[in-house]
Amino acid sequence: MVPSDAQRRVVELRARIEKANYQYHMLDAPTIDDFAYDALMRELQDLEAKHPELVEPDSPTQRVGAPASSRFGPIEHLNPMLSLSNAFDEAEVRAFDARSRKALGRDDVGYVCELKIDGLAINLTYVDGRFTQGATRGDGSVGEDVTGNLRTIKSIPLTLREKVGGRIDVRGEVYLPTAAFDATNRERLERDEPPFANPRNAAAGAVRQLDPAQTAKRNLAMWVYSAAGLAVDSQHALLARVRELGLRTNPNVRQARDVDAVLAFIAEWETTRHDLDYGTDGIVVKVDRVADQEVLGSVSRSPRWAIAYKFPAEQAMTTVEDIKVSVGRTGVLTPVAWLAPVLVGGTTVRRATLHNLAEVRRLDVRVGDRVVIQRAGDVIPEVVRVDPPPVETGKRKPRRGRPFEMPEACPVCAGAVEHREGEVAYRCANPACPAKTGQRIGHFVSRGGFDIEGVGGALIDQLQTRGLVNDPGDLFLLTKEQLLDLDRFAEKSAANIYDRIQAAKRRPLGRIINALGIAQVGWSTSEDLAVWLASRLPADPTLAQVFEALRSASADALQTINGVGEKVAEAIRAFLNDASEITAMDKLVSAGVVPVLPVPGALSAASPFTGRTVVFTGTLERRTREDAEALVRSLGGKAAGSVSAKTDLVVAGPGGGSKLDQAKQLGVKVVDEEAFEAMLAAVQR
Ligand code: IVH
Repeated sequence: MVPSDAQRRVVELRARIEKANYQYHMLDAPTIDDFAYDALMRELQDLEAKHPELVEPDSPTQRVGAPASSRFGPIEHLNPMLSLSNAFDEAEVRAFDARSRKALGRDDVGYVCELKIDGLAINLTYVDGRFTQGATRGDGSVGEDVTGNLRTIKSIPLTLREKVGGRIDVRGEVYLPTAAFDATNRERLERDEPPFANPRNAAAGAVRQLDPAQTAKRNLAMWVYSAAGLAVDSQHALLARVRELGLRTNPNVRQARDVDAVLAFIAEWETTRHDLDYGTDGIVVKVDRVADQEVLGSVSRSPRWAIAYKFPAEQAMTTVEDIKVSVGRTGVLTPVAWLAPVLVGGTTVRRATLHNLAEVRRLDVRVGDRVVIQRAGDVIPEVVRVDPPPVETGKRKPRRGRPFEMPEACPVCAGAVEHREGEVAYRCANPACPAKTGQRIGHFVSRGGFDIEGVGGALIDQLQTRGLVNDPGDLFLLTKEQLLDLDRFAEKSAANIYDRIQAAKRRPLGRIINALGIAQVGWSTSEDLAVWLASRLPADPTLAQVFEALRSASADALQTINGVGEKVAEAIRAFLNDASEITAMDKLVSAGVVPVLPVPGALSAASPFTGRTVVFTGTLERRTREDAEALVRSLGGKAAGSVSAKTDLVVAGPGGGSKLDQAKQLGVKVVDEEAFEAMLAAVQR
């Protein structure tokens, strides 16, 4: 059969997209810009929509295709996924080398040193060059089928660059870059969920999301470090071969001819690892030659030809100067140790969380104690133990401070503290507690919310102290005169803040929902809620209509939304029925807050504005500049007021003056309003 034009074009587009993926993810050397990439993707999506018979499972459009599932089926590994025995110091690394030389009966063994990536071990199966199945390690023999989620990871090729016949099992580490890890934790804190202690847990959470669309949002990546089914005779040749096939390998590897070279590599990375943008918790040392590996074999669940050197936990000793209690957005009281400043792994630590009263009791930590602190999984500082231990050792008891008690009154508002039977948390019961409202307002104006630049902690404090702002909605009622009256405010700064607050009345719906601070509802759920609501609202709804639509949604209906389960639906309903929240919502309505709806069907991940900074100049005819900016924001972009090197796109209407010149000078892409509308229309499709 002669291939149709559409068929030919589909094949060509896929090849170009795959090539661009390879250059971007594997070589770190993109050759086309994101606009061009998105245009190819959109054309392919269009063609496949028109010709569904041309859709294939490994088309780049199908990465997020798999439906959400309620559980992951079991997958038996062809060869067990082994773990590594650990070495914690130089002597143990030398002992490993001595054992290997002895067993092989010669001294020139030769090793490969790799970073031990802090993520999750994954097995990828390729059959005839196509990705067919991906599994977690599980218990080493049977893992979980997470194929659908792994397909969303762009650094995992759906087809290899060579059509290698038969089955290949590729192994490696799926991980979250540090920036994505931090973002995940920020979101969890916003939802009052405990943050992940380390990147491994966060990666495992993301890989095991029930809905691939959620995994896709996480920015996971993969480094490959082993493979079965390839004809190679050494570990370093294996890495080169898998790289050839289009799989991503970590660049920080080195062949070491002897144990001294291994130790030198370890010493280098002990400090340099802090400069990486992903987490590593050690160095894996592997006997290079495959023939030697076979001779060495494995004992129980670990190969004898490899060892993991673990970086020492980053701990330090310091003194507890005070134990204070902080009050969060939902009123939960958290004891925090204030420490004499101390360096841990390159960062000065001044505070460590003590989590809750139960933890303080367990540690029996008191003011004045010397304590060992550590960055758990290198991230959140915590108190490990009191040193010397507070348990009596038979000698004279040292004089110590009093045991810590939770305050009976809120340290901020003196309101009653509640503790429900069976719960760990203690909460301030006062709904008007300034700590709660202060944090709430801070959340409200933050980047994920109304994004009001210049309204920060100090200003909020002052506004609260003067009784000008008692809940977020009051911000919109502030007058220029009231602002001018504040400390350190002059005519111009007062006018600026006033204008920014007024301009913020128009915001994308997802941000407005996020700004409300509904328990359990973070940024991404808010965006999903907004998309869901948009299909149930008239074109230009008022905020009152939005709240009305939310209120009339049953808990069951809410649960059809991405990321909304029973608990979240309940939290939303509770919020909507809470008397003080109703007052706060009414205030936003009467202040004239206007929601901008997300474009239906648009996933911000796929929008041409995602992560881009757009500047408008000149007169727009089709919509107001504010609307255009809000649309760009709702599609994941940023709207800026002036052109700089960071600008990605300038939309110029007639009369665009200096900004246009500047854009030309900096080589920033400029389009007219019509082209901008075409870009929007492409997303709206
Ligand atoms: S080799 C038999 N290489 O560390 C070989 N593992 O306990 C087994 N890991 O489960 C693994 N980076 O998740 C190897 N460059 C690397 C690694 C690595 C991280 C993890 C892997 C494994 C664990 C070993």
